[in-house]
Amino acid sequence: MSTPLVRAIFRERSALRRRSFCNVKVNFINSAGGRLIPEGIISEIRNRTDIVALVSEHVKLKRTGANYVGICPFHPDKTPSFSVHRARQFFHCFGCHVSGDAISFVMRIENLSFMEAVRILAKRANIEIEEISDDESRAQQREKAQKERLFALSQIAADFYHEQLQSHPSAEIAQRELRKRNVSSETVKKFHLGYAPDGWDELSRFIAEKRLSLSEAEQVGLIIPRRSSSGYYDRFRGRLIFPVFDTHGRVVAFSGRALDHPAARTDKQEPKYVNSPESPLYKKGSILFGLYQNRVAIRRNGWAVLCEGNFDLLALFQAGVINAVAPLGTAFTLNHAYLIRRFAQRLTVLFDGDAAGRKAVRSIYPFLVKAGLSARVVNLPAGDDPDSFIRTKGAEALIRLIEGSAGIVETIIDETAESALRQAADIALAIRQLGPIIAEVQSPVERHKYIDRVAQRFEIRDLRSIYKELRAGARGSAKGEERTTSTKKSKKSSVPTGERRDNLSKLQGDLLGILLDFPELFDDPKAKKLEELLTNEQLRVIFHTAETQTRATRDLSASTLLDQVETQIGNTSAYLWLQERLAVQKYDSVVNAREALDKGVPVLRKQYIESKVQSLTREIQVARRSGDENRAIELTKQRYELWRSAPNS
Ligand code: CTP
Ligand code: MN
Repeated sequence: MSTPLVRAIFRERSALRRRSFCNVKVNFINSAGGRLIPEGIISEIRNRTDIVALVSEHVKLKRTGANYVGICPFHPDKTPSFSVHRARQFFHCFGCHVSGDAISFVMRIENLSFMEAVRILAKRANIEIEEISDDESRAQQREKAQKERLFALSQIAADFYHEQLQSHPSAEIAQRELRKRNVSSETVKKFHLGYAPDGWDELSRFIAEKRLSLSEAEQVGLIIPRRSSSGYYDRFRGRLIFPVFDTHGRVVAFSGRALDHPAARTDKQEPKYVNSPESPLYKKGSILFGLYQNRVAIRRNGWAVLCEGNFDLLALFQAGVINAVAPLGTAFTLNHAYLIRRFAQRLTVLFDGDAAGRKAVRSIYPFLVKAGLSARVVNLPAGDDPDSFIRTKGAEALIRLIEGSAGIVETIIDETAESALRQAADIALAIRQLGPIIAEVQSPVERHKYIDRVAQRFEIRDLRSIYKELRAGARGSAKGEERTTSTKKSKKSSVPTGERRDNLSKLQGDLLGILLDFPELFDDPKAKKLEELLTNEQLRVIFHTAETQTRATRDLSASTLLDQVETQIGNTSAYLWLQERLAVQKYDSVVNAREALDKGVPVLRKQYIESKVQSLTREIQVARRSGDENRAIELTKQRYELWRSAPNS
C-alpha cells in the first residue's frame, strides 16, 4: 500500500542521497527508560518542514491571505474548516478543534507515535539523528527523563496486571466478574484490563526482581511504604485493574475494582474502587477514563458521551457507543469539560438513574456552558446504570434512549418541576432556582422556549410572573458568590475566564492577537503599555510566554507557544482562545497591525480606568456605609488620581 506519505518519504529518500552534504546532525539523549528527543531536534524539524507542503499531500489547500484552508481530514467536514499557517508552522480546524504542528499532523493522519512521526519528518527534512548525549538545559532534561521513567514503569505495571489476569492461579475470580459483566476478551485487550493478585506485595516483588526503582513505583502510587517495617506493600490487591491512559496513550493512573474474594481477607471496609493518588503523571480532575481509546470516534463526530463508571464505559463500548468517557471516581470538573471540548462540541450525559445522577447533571451544567459544550441528557430508569441497562434491556434500547435524549436545560426544568412540591411557595423557589440556568442561555429564541417550558411544567399561565421569579433568581445568584459564567460573551472570540469585565477581556485578547500576528511588535512601546493593562491573568501568561519566545528565537512557533502556555494555565478557555487565534492571521501587514495597536491600547486604557473607577466607587460606598471615613477619603483620592490620568478622548 502506498500512501501519499510513503510516496513522499520515497521521494525524500532519493533527495537525501543527492543532498546529503547539507545534513544537520541532532542528537538523541539516551536515558534509562528510553530515548528522549531534545527540544533542539523538535524545533529543527519544525523549522525545516514546510507544513503547507506536508498537509497538501493529504488535503487540497487554497490560499486566503496568510492562511491556507481546506476540508478537514479529521472529521466529516462540509465547509473548509481546516486552516494552515505556514510561518507559524501550525494547523487548526475550526470544526473539530484539532490543531498542532507538522509532527502532530503526521501522528494523526498516519496514526503514528510521536517518535515515529519525528523520525519520518527528520528523514524528510534531511536531519540525521544520532545517539550521543548533548548539552541543553540539563535540569529540564533530567526532569523529562524522570517522567519518562515513571511512564515506562506505569506501563510495565499495567503489563504485569494484564499478564496476571491471563495467568495467575487466582485470576479466575476476576475472569468470572468479567464474564458476569459480559466483557469480551477484545475489550479486555483494548482497555488493557488486568488483575492485581490478592497478596500484599506481588507487584512490589516483581518490581524488585526486575531491578526497577521501588521509590519511583511509590511516586506513582503503585506501592506504599510499610509503616512498621522496611519495604513496601501493594496499593492494589485482589482487584480488577483498569489502567488509565492520557490522550497520548501513556499509562498515568490505575483504578482497581474490588472482587468478591472468598474467605480469608474480605475486609468489608475495603472500598469498591481504589484509584491512584495524584502523582507527577496524574492530576485529579484532569484525566478521563476511556478518552484515549475513544478519542478517534469522539473527534470524528465532535460528540462524546459522559458516564459515571468504568464498567458503564466498557458496556457502552461493546454496545457500539465508542465515544464515552468517565471521570475517575472524582467529581466532574471544569478541567474535564475543557478536556472534552478539545475533542468535541457536543456531549450526551448518561449518568445513573438515581437522585445522585440527576443532581450531578445540574452541578456540571455551569462547567459545560463555560467550556462551550452543548449537552443533552439521557434519562435512565431509576435503579439502572448504563451497564445494567444494557445487560437487561439490550444495546438497541439504550441507543434509542440516547437518540431520544432531551437538552440539558429542558431536563433540568423538568426535574425541578417534578421534584417541587405542589405548594405555591415551593414552586416559586423552584422557579427562582432555574433563573441562573436560563440566564446562561445565549439565544433569545431558545431562552423563550425554555420559559414556555417552565410555564408548562409548573402549570402557570402568567408568563410575566415567571419572568419575574426567574430574574429574581438570576440576580440572587449573581450577587452571591462570584459569578462564574458570563451571560453575554461570544463563545468564539472573547476570552471568557470567569472575569466579570468581559468587554475588557475581549479587547485585551484582540490587542494581544495583534502581537501574535506580528511578533516584532513586542518591541513596540505600545506593547509595553498593553502589558501593564492586561488584567486578565491568563492573557498575561500568554503575553509573557510569547514575548520570551520571540526575544529568544526572533520568531514565534505556534505549537511551542501552545505547549508552554498549556503547562502554565492548562486547558482553560484562554488556551482555547489562543489555539484559535494562532490559526488565523487577522492583519495582513505590519503597518495595519501597528495602527490597530496604536488605536486600541488607549481605548483599553480608558476602559481599564473606567472599570477601576467603578470598583473604587463601590468600595467608597461600602467604606462610607460602614463609617470608615478615613478609608473613604483615601479611596476617593485614588479615584481622583485615576481620573486625572485618564486619556481624554
Ligand atoms: N467509581 C469510582 N472510581 C472509579 C470508577 C467508578 O469511585 N475509578 C464509582 C463511580 O463514581 C460510580 C460507581 O463507582 O458511581 C460505578 O462505577 P461502575 O464502573 O459502574 O462500577 P460498578 O462496579 O458497576 O459499581 P456499581 O454497582 O455502583 O455501578
Ligand atoms: Mn455499574
